[in-house]
Order: sequence, then C-alpha cells, then structure tokens
Amino acid sequence: MAGKGGTGKTTISINLALALRDLHIKVGIADLDLTTPNVIKALGLRDASVGINVGDTKWIPANELGLKILSTASIIEDDKPFLWDGKRRKGVISEVIESTEWGDTEILILDLPPGTTEETTGMLALRPDGVVMVTNPHPLAQFDYAKMVDLLNLYKIPILKRIINMAYFKPKCPHVKCTAKSHRYDIFGDSDQFKDSYKIPLDQEIAKTNRVNLDDLAKELIEKLREIKIKEIKKSEAKEEVMTTQLDAAKAELDKTNKKVEELKEKLKKENEKEENEKEEPPATTGVLMDQGLASKIGTEKDDKKDKEKDDKKDEVKEPIKKDKKK
Ligand SMILES: Nc1ncnc2c1ncn2[C@@H]1O[C@H](COP(=O)(O)OP(=O)(O)O)[C@@H](O)[C@H]1O
Ligand SMILES: [Mg+2]
Repeated sequence: MAGKGGTGKTTISINLALALRDLHIKVGIADLDLTTPNVIKALGLRDASVGINVGDTKWIPANELGLKILSTASIIEDDKPFLWDGKRRKGVISEVIESTEWGDTEILILDLPPGTTEETTGMLALRPDGVVMVTNPHPLAQFDYAKMVDLLNLYKIPILKRIINMAYFKPKCPHVKCTAKSHRYDIFGDSDQFKDSYKIPLDQEIAKTNRVNLDDLAKELIEKLREIKIKEIKKSEAKEEVMTTQLDAAKAELDKTNKKVEELKEKLKKENEKEENEKEEPPATTGVLMDQGLASKIGTEKDDKKDKEKDDKKDEVKEPIKKDKKK
C-alpha cells in the first residue's frame, strides 16, 4: 500500500513475490489495481488474460514463474478508460480473495492502487495479516503516507514494514559499496530521517528491468508473519481456555439447578403421597373430635325435641280437662 501513486508498489510486490518464491514459500500475487493493473506487464508476461477463468464460480490463478498470479487486467478493457462504480469495484476484490482457488498458497500478495479507493477499503475489510507500505522520501508522499497509517490504525491492521523507495541516487563510482551521504544524492528528501525503514535506491536498472533483489526484506517479512501467526494462535488458545472455564462454571451451575429440581420433585412426591394417605384413612383423632362435636350437637337437638314433645303431651292431657270443665 501507499498513499501516492508511482512510488513503486507494483515493483516491490512482484520482486517480493519472486524473493519469497526463492525462499521456497508458496506465493500468490493478485493485482487489485483495477484502474491501472500492471503486475502482468511488470513480471514480463505477455498475456493479460492470464489467471482469470470467468464464467465459473471459482477463479483459477495462473501458474507462471513459480507464482500463482491473478490479474484483474483481463476483466477490464485495457485500451479504454476504466469507469466502474465503487460497488462493482468492491465486489471484484472479494471475488479475487474469496472466490479464487489459491490452493496451498502460503503468502498472498495484493498489489493495490494508491489512496483510499474501494479496492483498498475492500481489501482492508477482508483483514489481511499485515501491510507493506511503499513510499518515497518526498514530503508530499509522507503526508499521504500519514493518512494511510491512520486508516490502517482504524482497521487495526499492522504495518509489517515501511519501505522508502527511491531513497537516494548513487551514481556508479569507484566507491561502489559506499553509502555515505557525500556520495549519494537524496533527490526526494533526506532519507536518513527514516530510521526503521527498508531503503531502496533510485536505480536506472530497476526502472529498466523492474527487478530488484529483496531477499533480506522477504526473510524479515516471513519472520514477522510467523510472529503474528504465533500471537494469533496464543490468543485463540487463551480465548479457548477462558471459554472452557466459563463452560465448566455453567455446567456446575446447571448441575446445581438440576439437583435442586430433583429435590423439589422428591418433596412434591412425598407431599402428594401424604395427601393420598390422608384421603384413604382419615386420622382417628380428627374423626373422634368431629363425632363428639356432632354427637353432642345432635344430642342437644334430640333432647330439646323430646322435652318439647313431653310438654305438648302434658298440654294435651291438661286440655281435655279444661274442655270438660267448659262442657
Ligand atoms: N527504486 C526504483 N528506481 C528506479 N525506478 C523505479 C524504482 N522503483 C520503481 N521504479 C519505476 O517507477 C515506476 C513506477 O513504479 P510502480 O512500481 O509501477 O509504482 P506504483 O505501483 O506505486 O504505481 C515504474 O516504471 C518502475 O519501474
Ligand atoms: Mg502499481
């Protein structure tokens, strides 16, 4: 990636791919610069349609120079201005990454256009492991670089390496191996200010052949990617451990709840049984009490009735006498 165009992104992409290949890494390279795709040309290959198998659900990258290559050059018309809208551009990016048979590819290099076009944001959304930033020492290039760093921070994508391309020009002279400032021209600005960057000089040979040896950069990047992968594995292992602990705690809680449910069931069963027993044989004490109460009540009622009858009879006996008297 880079903020600016023409800083050497494609040059670095293809030479990095070749260097990784020489280190026995299985490399893929995809040209995501839809406006000006030139990976194929920069690699010295003629056929621009190489790598795309349109019509099928999967795109098949070409196998050339020991690399898997996929260029968008064949899906756009090379000699016409490129006028795709953002949505269509973004769609192609996910096709290239997700619907292409990259097979056993270990490292996939994506060559991007400058700036924050849909190609770039679409690629960032797919979360690459890291980004190599290619810039030159010029203040304008650095200004655009700073904006891209902000964007990467936003997406939380790490910068694997910052490359200062065309860092200086060193004419061929007897001091071939000398990089002293007095023997070089910092054409675009003081390149000594970029301390931790990988510097590539401005070189006529690179412009002519598009080739530059990047073996040491490739080794450094392999190491960084390995570190990132190890970190990712450790992170996912730690996550797994936390999840296992949480799962165990949840299981223990569930066991507790199940036990409680069983206890309640048992209690309910016992209560039901007790109720059933009570229905079948009413407890003696309760019956006696009820009978006594009832009996005494009934008894009183009976006594009252008897007393009344007695009184009535007495009256009957008295009554005729009265009548007789009247007679
Ligand atoms: N270090 C360099 N020295 C000389 N020419 C270079 C260097 N890096 C790149 N170039 C040339 O600069 C031009 C633009 O490079 P390119 O990789 O296409 O840039 P980008 O992909 O960023 O637009 C190409 O012609 C390339 O050969
Ligand atoms: Mg380019």
